[in-house]
Formats: sequence, C-alpha cells, structure tokens
Amino acid sequence: MTNTIYFNLDNASYSTSSPDSILSHHQHDHEGSRAASSSFVVAEEINAWIRPPSWLNRDQVGKPDQSFSSFNEGEISHYSHLKSFSLKQLRIATKNFSPDCLLGQGSFGKVFKGWIDEYKLTATKPGRGTAVAVKRLHQGSLQGHEEWLAEINYLGKLYHLNLVKLLGYCLDNQERLLVYEFMPEGSLDNHLFWSNSYCQLSWSIRMKIALGAAKALAFLHSAEVNVIHRGCQNSNILLDWNYNAKLSDFGLARDGPTGDNSHVYTSVMGTYGYACPEYIATGRLTAESDVYSFGVVLLEILSGRRAKDMLWPSNQQNLVDWVMLYLSDNQRIFCLVDSRLDGQYSLEKAQKVVHLAVQCLANKAKLRPNMDVVVTALEQLQESIK
Ligand SMILES: Nc1ncnc2c1ncn2[C@@H]1O[C@H](COP(=O)(O)OP(=O)(O)OP(=O)(O)O)[C@@H](O)[C@H]1O
Ligand SMILES: [Mg+2]
Repeated sequence: MTNTIYFNLDNASYSTSSPDSILSHHQHDHEGSRAASSSFVVAEEINAWIRPPSWLNRDQVGKPDQSFSSFNEGEISHYSHLKSFSLKQLRIATKNFSPDCLLGQGSFGKVFKGWIDEYKLTATKPGRGTAVAVKRLHQGSLQGHEEWLAEINYLGKLYHLNLVKLLGYCLDNQERLLVYEFMPEGSLDNHLFWSNSYCQLSWSIRMKIALGAAKALAFLHSAEVNVIHRGCQNSNILLDWNYNAKLSDFGLARDGPTGDNSHVYTSVMGTYGYACPEYIATGRLTAESDVYSFGVVLLEILSGRRAKDMLWPSNQQNLVDWVMLYLSDNQRIFCLVDSRLDGQYSLEKAQKVVHLAVQCLANKAKLRPNMDVVVTALEQLQESIK
C-alpha cells in the first residue's frame, strides 16, 4: 500500500485524507470524485517530508513573489554570537564539500563535516581546530529559503543544553548554508535503524536520550519561549559523545499562540507518521502537536521500529496502530520492546514508558500531558534505574 499525500493548491494545505474528505471537511462544494477536484496535486511518497513538490514554486501557493536576488541579510534578526561565514571559508573548512566529509543528507541538502578555529571562528585546515557540521541548501532551490531563515532566527536566539548549537550561517548569491556544533554520535535515527549490532543503544541510554529530547520540547513550550518545533522525529535528535540528546532543525518551527488564541494556523507540514491527527485534518498547530510527535519518537526508541515502515506486514506498518493492539494486556507489553534490549529492563518500566507514550498520543489534544509532566515522568524512570 502506498501512503498518499494530498496537496491543496487553493489553501496550500496537505492531507493524508482524500481530496473528497478534505473538501467535505472544509465544507467546500463537493463534486464527489477526485477527477473533479483539479486543485489537488497527488504526491506519492513514503516516509517523506510533507512539502510542496519541487516544481511547485511559492507563487502558486499565494506567497509573495520572491527571487533569490530579493533575499538579503536584512531578513535575519541580528544575534551577536552568530557568525556570518563566507562561502570561501566554508569551502576551505569542508575540503571544498568533499564526499569524504559528507555526514548525511536530508530534504534541505547535504551535511558536511568541517573544521574551524574555535576562537576566531575562521576556517582551518581539515583535522585542525573544532569540528563543525555544515549544512548546504540544495543550490538554486527556493524551497528551503524560509526553513533556512527560520533556523537562523530561532536557533540564533534560543540556548539550551538540549538544543543543537548554531554557530553561524552563510548567504552568498544562490548559496545558503548553516554551521552547527558537530555532534559526534550523529542522529538517533542512525543508531536505532542503521547501526551494526556492536553499537546498539542500551535501555538506559535510550531513556537518557528520550529525557533530553523531552527537556528540549519542555523548554520550547515554556511560557517565556512559546515555540512549537513541528519537526520532532528521530533524525532531528542529535547525540554528542556522551549520548546527550540535542534537538535540531527549526526550519518548520513557529511561534506558539498568544493571548486568547489556542492554536496557530499553518499549511500542514511535517513528516509522515509524526504529525497528530487534528493538525493534519485542520492545520491548527498547538504545542500538543509536538507532544504527539514526541510520543511517536518514544515508541520508536522503545520498539526499535520506525513510525512508518512499509517492510512490515500491513497491520504492523503504522507503529502507533500496531502498539494499540497490545495495550489491553499488560503482560504482552514485552512484545513491543526492541528484542535487542532483552534482559536490560523490567516489565514495570516498559509498561510505564508505553503508558507515557500512549498518553502523548491521545486522540484528544487536551488529554495529552504537557512536556513538563513528560520530563518528570522520564526523570522518575531514570531515578529508578540508579
Ligand atoms: N550537527 C550535526 N552533527 C553531526 N551530524 C549531523 C549534524 N546535523 C546533521 N547531521 C547528520 O546529517 C544527516 C542529515 O541531517 P538533516 O538535518 O539535513 O536531514 P534529516 O534530519 O536526516 O532529514 P530531514 O531534515 O530532511 O527530515 C543527519 O541524519 C545526521 O546524520
Ligand atoms: Mg534534521
């Protein structure tokens, strides 16, 4: 079965529902057939970002007409600690973006390892100075400009032990880059799903990572910060040498609602499997949307299975649906836990983690715990390990 993402050109929204059901949801005229609904582009992607197809430029979705030449540093809020790197310096730092330095690739572009002088923040020869990660936006692509800017404008002003540190950026004609602290253990995704068996994450390390990610979201959701991340998923949880987790990728982040508003409206964007049902259906974004995504990540950490995995039999492809099948019988919780963790945890602890994840995944957003409550629950689990 293929997961189909529908993009509505009229209001720039996406849905996993068919165009017909979206139309009836928005109480538009309902012609009854997909063929009649010419405003939908159907993108067939599995485990993919829900974002406009690359050929669809922003003019078509009602955004202001912008060309690369109209973007400038004036759009960047000024934060003294962010360095503006030249492209030349970043070429030197990454051996001219050499494949040897490639750390990974996401929808934004490629990520390279580079080296800079820690004090002057200038490029140094590879292997000297401090390692950094340099993310380079696909060249000539307009799609990532807003994400690039959001990353700078959020990570430039937010500081927390569980957020990845942005050191600087580069804007040079069509080139847009971001320079981060280097995270030696890469992403949680790499460890859960790609590692060889000799370096599997233990139960206690997994719980430590979950706690770190939860603290990052609790910080973002606090009244003073009031930011919704919208991209909480295993590939955006990066790990330092001691497996401290740091949340990355603020490209989709939004300011949370203020005053009497309970939500902010946005085009529906995110990654399949992590977005909560009410957000997909209505475009109403709340902090509880992040809580839902965190619940999915917690289940991935516990089970070692992906949120969506088409390689499993059909009743197991959606992790959340599969977990729900086991909830009626507490003794069967063992079946949900990654078999690579056998012997490292008690049934009681596994039950507590599943229970917490299920609370985060409540269908009604109001029934989900806030991230402070999640942090406390995970801290108590850590305490009981000692
Ligand atoms: N600061 C960093 N330090 C070390 N490795 C990093 C860092 N940032 C990213 N990476 C590596 O680069 C890979 C790609 O990261 P990127 O954020 O571009 O994409 P993604 O999160 O995997 O996917 P997407 O953002 O498209 O959902 C990550 O999986 C990770 O292995
Ligand atoms: Mg990422």
